[in-house]
Amino acid sequence: MIDYDSFADQYREMVRKGGPGRAHRFIISRLERITSLSRASICDLGCGSGDLSSELARLGASVTGVDISKKLLAHAQALNEKVDWVHGDAMALPSNFKTASYDIVISSLMLMDIPDHKAVFREAYRIVKPGGFMIWLVMHPCFQSPFSHPDEDGSRKVYQYAPQFWKSKGTGTLRSTLGAYHRPISQYLNDFMDVGFQSIRTFEPGSESAAPPNAYAPDVPDHFGALGYKN
Ligand SMILES: C[S@@+](CC[C@H](N)C(=O)[O-])C[C@H]1O[C@@H](n2cnc3c(N)ncnc32)[C@H](O)[C@@H]1O
Repeated sequence: MIDYDSFADQYREMVRKGGPGRAHRFIISRLERITSLSRASICDLGCGSGDLSSELARLGASVTGVDISKKLLAHAQALNEKVDWVHGDAMALPSNFKTASYDIVISSLMLMDIPDHKAVFREAYRIVKPGGFMIWLVMHPCFQSPFSHPDEDGSRKVYQYAPQFWKSKGTGTLRSTLGAYHRPISQYLNDFMDVGFQSIRTFEPGSESAAPPNAYAPDVPDHFGALGYKN
């Protein structure tokens, strides 16, 4: 398990500087297209320092933010008192998380921090209401890893794609300190479908969002993700 407590202040700073802002804007714009946020109950799994949960609450949703890092939750609590902040493991939620209790479950940039992403999908499927859905984004498995590099001629080399845990080179950055679990796109999607989610839409924000493109590799997406419904 990746422990963000040692990196909580730096992560909060990264968020302040806009780090995951593109992912947050993308998720909010998707939600606004298909639902009325003012009536939605939302569970944000791996809410981190709470910015996405807080913005959804500001837009009228009733939001529960769950995270395993007590230090990040403390930052989240300082940000917004309307959100119900819960310390818990998204792979095995606290026992008071009832089956079929949320309209929407979100996971923004958490699943690559999780040793068992399928357990998170299972829990999400359990707590979402029939007719509700889960939306998630991860760092793009093809473009956001130390095994994928743009070359000067505009081409790209992918050295490895098999599932593995990696740490990026250097020191002091999020992924050189904490690392990440790499999984192929097919594994995420098959496991998402296996737990029961249906009518799946996939996303590669960066290439299709209106947000400014990734500076060092302008034409590749930063993130990969999906939205699926529970019937
Ligand atoms: C990259 S951060 C993303 C935070 C936030 N969702 C965002 O978009 O800024 C990953 C988050 O997942 C949390 N996390 C990691 N493992 C977890 C687990 N098993 N259960 C709940 N949260 C977890 C970390 O503590 C961290 O806050």
